[in-house]
Amino acid sequence: MKAKSFAAPSSKKPLEYYEFERREPKSTDVEIDIHYCGVCHSDIHTAKGEWGEVAYPCVPGHEIVGIVTRVGKSVKHFKPGDRVGVGCMVGSCGTCEACKKGYENSCFNETVWTYSSKDPVDGTDTKGGYSTLIVVPEHFVLHLPKSLDMAQAAPLLCAGITTYSPLRHWKIGKNMKVGIIGLGGLGHMGVKYAKKMGAEVWVITSSKAKEKAAKAYGAKGIIVSTSKEDLARAAHTFDFLLDTIPSGHDVTPYLSLLNVHGTLCLVGPIEPMPGFHSGMVINGQKSIAGSGIGGIKETQEMLDYSAKYNILPEIEVIQIQDINKAWDALIGKKMSKRYVIDMKKSFPQK
Ligand SMILES: NC(=O)c1ccc[n+]([C@@H]2O[C@H](COP(=O)([O-])OP(=O)(O)OC[C@H]3O[C@@H](n4cnc5c(N)ncnc54)[C@H](OP(=O)(O)O)[C@@H]3O)[C@@H](O)[C@H]2O)c1
Ligand SMILES: [Zn+2]
Ligand SMILES: [Zn+2]
Repeated sequence: MKAKSFAAPSSKKPLEYYEFERREPKSTDVEIDIHYCGVCHSDIHTAKGEWGEVAYPCVPGHEIVGIVTRVGKSVKHFKPGDRVGVGCMVGSCGTCEACKKGYENSCFNETVWTYSSKDPVDGTDTKGGYSTLIVVPEHFVLHLPKSLDMAQAAPLLCAGITTYSPLRHWKIGKNMKVGIIGLGGLGHMGVKYAKKMGAEVWVITSSKAKEKAAKAYGAKGIIVSTSKEDLARAAHTFDFLLDTIPSGHDVTPYLSLLNVHGTLCLVGPIEPMPGFHSGMVINGQKSIAGSGIGGIKETQEMLDYSAKYNILPEIEVIQIQDINKAWDALIGKKMSKRYVIDMKKSFPQK
């Protein structure tokens, strides 16, 4: 089946139109007609080669929502016409301890990522959701709850689960003070979930102009990360900090915000980080932790939770022809919400 897409032809060039063949669905595969795909900062890191070498053309996109068009003969849980989602993974070994426990995202034998991974079925490079269709093993397809709008559901598949999972793991709830560092696609979902879970939420931002948005999402206020006064005022007060900054940075100013036993959880900077003085965590029995998306079971739980409590992303729907402009806006820290590509409008059927 021919897929239309936008792909990065190299690490330096803008994305451009590209056509390629999707493999025929195997017996356990689901074929999905893609309606929407969210735009994650990881798409940019990968396509620009910032996380290591990738094969080109690179078709990013891992916040995928669409309608099932065909299923393989062994598929049990999906049928044509179903509304479904696909996130960052399309495969894992299924046999290691992590996979068996439902942590396919942490597979000891390598998770197959939705794009720029090796497809174990045919050895080709996986291609993501900036495209018109995708073929995915049933295990990695999620059911979209009925009440969820398809465009709004898309960012849940990465930004949603990446923030929901650590907030659950560190048992965020009432009488806790949570700081979300960086108010972008991930950050704004973090604010909404942490607030719903009962915490007092603050946004720690480098962009003072995002104060209004932060409060609209449920934050009590903002702390400007470049303001010594703001940081000093909030010192030793936070139980949990979720750090979504997309590049390596000094964590020292953030560690100083933690209360005794507080945790700084990294989700944004997936790269080497500058060092820090161990006294910053020894004093106060503090933790520096990390978290990467979530397993399939938890992703379904997050979709159901988001539908039940109406915790949904703020989105700006675009056509794929505007993707390069959208990426520039993310790099420029302009967005405090998520771009979602309308694939049907981008590639109208004639
Ligand atoms: N761990 C995981 O599983 C996982 C999953 C998805 C994404 N990620 C990673 O998480 C990071 C955030 O993704 P996202 O989609 O939320 O990105 P985004 O929408 O671009 O938001 C990132 C925010 O970080 C802040 N920021 C601080 N320094 C920045 C800089 N030098 N450049 C750009 N932004 C900066 C900005 O917020 P302020 O203006 O408020 O400072 C910005 O809006 C990316 O690195 C992405 O690859 C990780
Ligand atoms: Zn992502
Ligand atoms: Zn595994």
